Amino acid sequence: MKVLMINGSPRVGGNTSIALAEMEKIFAEEGIESETIQIGAQPIRGCIACGTCRKKGKCVFDDAVNQAAPKFEAADGLVVASPVYYASANGTLVSFLDRLFYSTPFDKRMKVGASVVVARRGGLSATFDELNKYFTIAGMPVTSSQYWNSVHGRLPGEAAQDAEGLQTMRTLARNMVFLMKSIQLGKEAYGIPEREPQDVLWAVRCMALEQEAPSWEAALGPVILRRFQAKLADALYYRYDLARPWPEQLEENLAWLAGERARLEEMQRRLDRKNR
Ligand SMILES: Cc1cc2nc3c(=O)[nH]c(=O)nc-3n(C[C@H](O)[C@H](O)[C@H](O)COP(=O)(O)O)c2cc1C
Repeated sequence: MKVLMINGSPRVGGNTSIALAEMEKIFAEEGIESETIQIGAQPIRGCIACGTCRKKGKCVFDDAVNQAAPKFEAADGLVVASPVYYASANGTLVSFLDRLFYSTPFDKRMKVGASVVVARRGGLSATFDELNKYFTIAGMPVTSSQYWNSVHGRLPGEAAQDAEGLQTMRTLARNMVFLMKSIQLGKEAYGIPEREPQDVLWAVRCMALEQEAPSWEAALGPVILRRFQAKLADALYYRYDLARPWPEQLEENLAWLAGERARLEEMQRRLDRKNR
């Protein structure tokens, strides 16, 4: 089993590294392979919402994000660790995670997540919440510990004095190993849970509302399709869970939407009542 650890700090050997090293020790004891990638000093830009990843299955910016993607795909667990900057995760890490999670089409469900936050004094639990949201939108179970997963320290090395914080890290690593092993057994015994396709009616409803279309057929007219193809492509991308080019899939997508006619008509009736 493998764990990928992302360290958002720019400081090599800083406090976040100390927190992660405490987890690495436990992983090694438990026979779990771990790899840490420290990204904080790299020029990692934010997502520009270009949608290229939809077609290519990887980010248009070929940097640490694309390098980490196959490692994330191969991993059973992901640890994301951040120094707290202004009561938030540090900016480089946020840019990295936005692009990593958004651009990668592989199934992340049941990979185990754990977040680690490190600060001098304040903003730890806000940052903890922020990081956990990457896991919980992706179907990844989140590991907890005996306290919120935080370590205190300001100057590099100070975290080593936070005995309770380090204990929290060891417990976190042990709990994570337990979860990964349990999920492995669960997958063998029961298989991964069935996934329903994402409901795309919201996209159609947006089209109908924005165009004040008299019916859903009108809302799906070619002009509107062109205008709103990005929105619809987004929805369909999630439905098929594949980075497939939009135009090639058009017919198939429309056929599928036609099959949804009953639900669309019900939606139309609701729209009509609302517009009355
Ligand atoms: C730009 C910046 C903002 C910071 N904001 C906070 C903060 O909001 N709360 C806090 O307690 N510490 C804050 N700190 C301190 C760091 O969280 C602290 O030094 C931490 O140990 C850094 O981890 P590292 O050594 O792994 O980089 C900030 C540091 C920097 C550079």
